[in-house]
Amino acid sequence: MRRADPIPAGIADAQSPAAAEHASELTAQSYLIGPATPDDAPAMLDLQRRAFAEEGRRSRTQDIPPLTEQLDAVSGHIRTQAALVARDRGAIIGTIRGIVENRVCTVRALVVDPACQGRGVGSALLDALERKLTDVTRFDLTTNTLMEANVPFYERRGYEVVELTRHSARITLAQMSKIVHASAQEPRN
Ligand SMILES: CC(C)(COP(=O)(O)OP(=O)(O)OC[C@H]1O[C@@H](n2cnc3c(N)ncnc32)[C@H](O)[C@@H]1OP(=O)(O)O)[C@@H](O)C(=O)NCCC(=O)NCCS
Repeated sequence: MRRADPIPAGIADAQSPAAAEHASELTAQSYLIGPATPDDAPAMLDLQRRAFAEEGRRSRTQDIPPLTEQLDAVSGHIRTQAALVARDRGAIIGTIRGIVENRVCTVRALVVDPACQGRGVGSALLDALERKLTDVTRFDLTTNTLMEANVPFYERRGYEVVELTRHSARITLAQMSKIVHASAQEPRN
């Protein structure tokens, strides 16, 4: 697995006065994306729990994987899988993990600090993970359709819904995939 150098992100294009004003806002909050370190695990889990609190409220249960996941699982992924964080002046404002098996990556815990959402951090993290994992032929993820912005967010980034699963009376999960190489297709006999 190739280690990515930190990627400068969050710097806006300043073509017009309005864009310039927006740019200074964003530049003041510029962030870097890089690999998570073992010390980051508690902050990553804390952020995950805060970012998924709304999904827990809408689902009317705390018994959903991002809220029940424990520190050892996050630490294990940092050690053995792809785990990236977005840092703004040292503070972790976003995370993503990719669990790879047989050249298929399951995207886990794409989260952005609620105070920093809607500024491109989530898109930059997803893009950085996809670019880091050059051997992967398909990216899979599961998202809760109660969070109605999530499926369109991933669709705009090349993912397609491959299955909808009724998880409970309230929760329908969307399984989404993005194929990134023709070699992901099953070989023909
Ligand atoms: C899903 C999530 C990671 C997206 O992160 P983000 O940094 O807000 O994403 P971006 O800013 O790159 O893109 C958000 C999109 O929503 C739009 N948006 C507008 N206002 C927004 C707001 N207040 N909050 C979030 N998104 C907003 C953005 O313009 C952008 O639209 P686009 O898809 O046309 O580009 C983030 O909302 C989050 O952490 N949600 C809770 C956890 C979760 O559900 N994770 C996904 C699990 S599968």
